[in-house]
Amino acid sequence: MNALAATSRNFRQAARLLGLDSKLEKSLLIPFREIKVECTIPKDDGTLASFVGFRVQHDNARGPMKGGIRYHPEVDPDEVNALAQLMTWKTAVADLPYGGAKGGIGCSPSELSMSELERLTRVFTQKIHDLIGTHTDIPAPDMGTNAQTMAWIFDEYSKFHGHSPAVVTGKPIDLGGSLGRDAATGRGVTYATEALLAEYGKSISGSTVVIQGFGNVGSWAAQLIHARGGKVIAIGDVTGSIRNKAGIDIPALMKHRNEGGHLKDFHGAEVMDSSELLVHECDVLIPCALGGVLNRENAPDVKAKFIIEAANHPTDPEADEILTKKGVIVLPDIYANAGGVIVSYFEWVQNIQGFMWDEQKVNMELHKYMNSAFQHIKAMCRSHDCNLRMGAFTLGVNRVARATLLRGWEA
Ligand SMILES: NC(=O)c1ccc[n+]([C@@H]2O[C@H](COP(=O)([O-])OP(=O)(O)OC[C@H]3O[C@@H](n4cnc5c(N)ncnc54)[C@H](O)[C@@H]3O)[C@@H](O)[C@H]2O)c1
Repeated sequence: MNALAATSRNFRQAARLLGLDSKLEKSLLIPFREIKVECTIPKDDGTLASFVGFRVQHDNARGPMKGGIRYHPEVDPDEVNALAQLMTWKTAVADLPYGGAKGGIGCSPSELSMSELERLTRVFTQKIHDLIGTHTDIPAPDMGTNAQTMAWIFDEYSKFHGHSPAVVTGKPIDLGGSLGRDAATGRGVTYATEALLAEYGKSISGSTVVIQGFGNVGSWAAQLIHARGGKVIAIGDVTGSIRNKAGIDIPALMKHRNEGGHLKDFHGAEVMDSSELLVHECDVLIPCALGGVLNRENAPDVKAKFIIEAANHPTDPEADEILTKKGVIVLPDIYANAGGVIVSYFEWVQNIQGFMWDEQKVNMELHKYMNSAFQHIKAMCRSHDCNLRMGAFTLGVNRVARATLLRGWEA
């Protein structure tokens, strides 16, 4: 089941639990606006190249729409639609005053030069500048885009509308980016793990942890869990997987990686078969790489007691059912990886205030938002007798439905 089907299914289940009016349910699924633009640029060799750009603005009942922009050859309008919808529920779960959006350009960023990427980003911004804005729709980086892309959007947008740093988040620090944004998703994952374990009388300290993915999210989660006394006993990325029963020395592994080394060449652990990573014995399993990695084939063999969904959509619905029957507690992506969008919100707030927070304040506020969301999810689980995924979906959908009703949607 793809991301679109899974999101719609979760939404419908949540709507049923909440007893939403069927007309309202239908209306909440319909995107506010779908934008498709043709972006033509001169390539470095003088020829012209055309690319299609998308922006789906799903819902703005709770505030300006928020979501990433990805550059990928297979940017599919249906998927962008599903991801925009997911952002609506995710921002609502975290109680941010935002709606949801998502966008992208169908291109292979690795095949474009820096100047071609800059021209493409500027043309895309010229085409959508009157549809995005500080109080309308605030893009952020996603697959294939980064802080530099956001800097170009900010600059191009500001030519039309005056100095507007809050029109995008995930900017370089020198242009109004937030301290702590780089670590935010991994840090949020760590706070979420702490909150969940505390619910079961456990803590990160002394727990055994397995992590799939050692990129931005996985490496930050690994460092912060290690710093709290958690034992990361196995870790894998696209190049391979390693394990050490006594716990991997994460600072040493970071140094090894930052010097260009692959996981499998790290001396402080033994190489293991990557297919065994997700079914490795551990207390906490944290997928931080791809979607759909937990499926009906491997779910019956999962030995973890807790799964923290740091990646988007790592558990497909069949696996979800199997894991629930086995008594595995799954903390859903819509909450577990919200740290990034929460600190993006802080960046927007700082830009509007024209005042920069120190990193300690960013982390403290992130902690508050993650803990508060967890308590609200638990309350929904209790009142609707459901698991954490449905607790999160009912929380998000209910907040958006209430805002929609209060604003009046049928007139
Ligand atoms: N970065 C964020 O702020 C953020 C926010 C929310 C959700 N996410 C989600 O978290 C996940 C990771 O994002 P990221 O920013 O860390 O990406 P990244 O590109 O920095 O890292 C991805 C990691 O996954 C590994 N990987 C790729 N294919 C793999 C495979 N087949 N098997 C094992 N490992 C594999 C890579 O080697 C890399 O270590 C994605 O699902 C992303 O959508 C990220």
